Amino acid sequence: MSDMHPLIAAAARGTLPDWAVARKKRRAHIARVAELLRGWGEARGDDPRDVERWSAAGYLHDVLRDADPGELRRGLSMPLDGLPDEVIHGPAAADRLRREGVTDEPLLTAIAFHTLGSSDFDDIGKALYVADFLEPGRRLQPKWRAKLRDQMPERLDWVAQSVVEKRVQFLIKRKRAAPLETLGFWNTLAKGR
Ligand SMILES: [Fe+2]
Ligand SMILES: [Fe+2]
Repeated sequence: MSDMHPLIAAAARGTLPDWAVARKKRRAHIARVAELLRGWGEARGDDPRDVERWSAAGYLHDVLRDADPGELRRGLSMPLDGLPDEVIHGPAAADRLRREGVTDEPLLTAIAFHTLGSSDFDDIGKALYVADFLEPGRRLQPKWRAKLRDQMPERLDWVAQSVVEKRVQFLIKRKRAAPLETLGFWNTLAKGR
């Protein structure tokens, strides 16, 4: 692998790019997600470079979360008409990073699909998906979240599956459609790839 892109190296240390659109509360959430990821990466004994990548994924996942979704949609280099407004910030951030020269595909996939999940996720994608949902600032069902956090990073696939289960159950209960990406992620985990 070539040298780490300066944007990724800066994000790993908590410095967001100057095109970030994230309000103060959002930045606090972003920092908590990144902190979880860094801790998990270290606990796994990953290469320091991978720990940086995990931390950067946390810092960058919501980097455009507070931008206008319509504007993000118009700026995208690929058509994503089918995606709802609250999901578009992921693909938009990955797209922007790619245009800035970032070529780390597992990291870009992690960021692009952090809301929906993806059957293409590497460990970094699974971990970001899980960290975003389990970070301690979320107020709903704190005990359930803490229990799952306690299983990390050792049982990454099991925890990811538990989180997807929760989200799909929520949609089904409300008779809502479950995105194909989410179901694809579920199937990958259920098959224990
Ligand atoms: Fe997000
Ligand atoms: Fe988030």
